[in-house]
Amino acid sequence: MPFITFEGIDGSGKSTQVELLRRRMAAEGHEPVVFREPGGTILSERVRAVLLDHTLSVDPMAELLLFSAARCQLSAERIRPLLKAGRVVICDRFYDSTVAYQGGGRGLGEFEWLTDFNRRVTGGLVPDRTYYIRVSPETSQRRRADREVDRLEAGGDAFFSRVQETYERIAREMPERFMVIDGERRPEAIAEEIWDDAEALIQEPG
Ligand code: ADP
Ligand code: TYD
Repeated sequence: MPFITFEGIDGSGKSTQVELLRRRMAAEGHEPVVFREPGGTILSERVRAVLLDHTLSVDPMAELLLFSAARCQLSAERIRPLLKAGRVVICDRFYDSTVAYQGGGRGLGEFEWLTDFNRRVTGGLVPDRTYYIRVSPETSQRRRADREVDRLEAGGDAFFSRVQETYERIAREMPERFMVIDGERRPEAIAEEIWDDAEALIQEPG
């Protein structure tokens, strides 16, 4: 069964679409297991709390390693066993977020190194499909306007535009896995496009 991930800048509508896809799949008899990164195991949730803490100053490389530690544990303890047992797994963010936010946003760059590193962190897990929900910076900002800002969301416009540029680069370099979705439409229209693709994925043998 497929391993599906969602990516996009903050406020792009990922969580909304994850929930719509989960419901649709469940209605079709394929109850997926959903995770939000960082999180999903006791260790990963503790790391999440560290990462979101306003009062901490975190070096960019330390931040990259903390996200990766959380992801390593989630992959080993939950995702790989679930996929092996034949479940559909959906992740709200996965390692493309580290490439975009720490690699692009925080400037740690070196795309090739990070791609190789991420494979090691996850024991070779590669999503079968990644839905990249593309919205303009203005839409992202408008949708985030009412939220309380945590340490990670506190990056400025330049930070978010580097994150977005890196997502666009991944989309160009990995078109077979990374599906670009126009996130400026109504949630139902977006969900319909995602379902058209995901339905085929869960019907593929193997
Ligand atoms: P993310 O998980 O990417 O940060 P959310 O799904 O939490 O994004 O959405 C952020 C905000 O935007 C929420 O208030 C949500 O209700 C709203 N929203 C999500 N998708 C859409 C959409 N397609 N059109 C308008 N508003 C949306
Ligand atoms: P969260 O509230 O889970 O996501 P969202 O704002 O998209 O609803 O916050 C997660 C934050 O962590 C978000 O700003 C992106 C950031 N992040 C990274 O910087 N690197 C990563 O590897 C991951 C998974 C998230």
